[in-house]
Amino acid sequence: MYTRRKFINTSVLTGASLFIAANSVAEVISVKSDHSSESKPVVISTWDFGIAANMAAWEVLNNNGRALDAVEKGVRVPEADPKNQSVGFGGLPDRDGKVTLDACIMDEFGNCGSVAGLEQILHPVSVARKVMEKTPHVMLVGDGALQFALEQGFKKVKLLTSESEKAWKAWLKKAEYKPIINSENKSFRPDKLPGNQYNHDTIGMLALDSFGNLSGACTTSGMAYKMHGRVGDSPIIGAGLYIDNEIGGATATGVGEEVIRNVGSFLVVELMRNGYSPADACKEAVMRIIKKKPENAKHIQVSFIALNKKGEYGSYAIQKGFSFAVCNAENQELLLKGNSYY
Ligand code: GLY
Repeated sequence: MYTRRKFINTSVLTGASLFIAANSVAEVISVKSDHSSESKPVVISTWDFGIAANMAAWEVLNNNGRALDAVEKGVRVPEADPKNQSVGFGGLPDRDGKVTLDACIMDEFGNCGSVAGLEQILHPVSVARKVMEKTPHVMLVGDGALQFALEQGFKKVKLLTSESEKAWKAWLKKAEYKPIINSENKSFRPDKLPGNQYNHDTIGMLALDSFGNLSGACTTSGMAYKMHGRVGDSPIIGAGLYIDNEIGGATATGVGEEVIRNVGSFLVVELMRNGYSPADACKEAVMRIIKKKPENAKHIQVSFIALNKKGEYGSYAIQKGFSFAVCNAENQELLLKGNSYY
């Protein structure tokens, strides 16, 4: 049930004012994670930084824009935010000190594009969209992805901020690779961790536009202090993101290796095809991960969010503490606490 709800009339708030309103709510304002009433347009995304991203996406959706444009615009917000150390600019680097970005995007026609291990580019999601629209391929990686981005007019930028460089240098003292559960939440204090082991994660966003079409996007700097060359689930279609315009969409956050092993987002969509609600489909996908490696699952976080064709949404996570943001005509800044196994 809702414990608190904020409503902002979109007819009187636009652009910058919506954005400020979004940033003003950082707490969890609901504990309900399965929303069963039909609603469109709607956009949902992972973690509390999803609120600001949703608001940018909402500007597109509320003007009868396409879900694809909404998700690209939405996830560009955390990509450009230097304070967000798990996505884009300011992301924590790999163990060699390099910020390498993974992103993908998928539309209502089943078109998709993806980049992995992309360096020096501010908006990997927009490069992923170019891969989808301008090439015969789905995925470009590393130097090839960078070369393509430059050919498409993207400019090189330095992604490693002084804060992230400082955190990496502190981590180097022990150099222990250990993902931290729920590091994405604002209440999380990386500076309080031994060795400043701040680790990770992803924004995944799903949108249903006023025409009833679905799209999704997913973008991350990946697991902090990963091996150079490591690719997580976020740019892998079917793992970090999947959209089927007949059924719904799903996206993932957390330890990417477990999401890939279970082809998580595709699984969630297929479960919805078989009649599961979005929340139940997310739960079943999480349970597969737990069942396969129960000991491992105690120490990691994986969460899914899902949105179906009717605008119903839900989530499930291994660990408590996961949150996701929802934006529709009723609720402009709703942040839901996802149900979890532990
Ligand atoms: N889920 C993001 C990653 O594992 O890199």
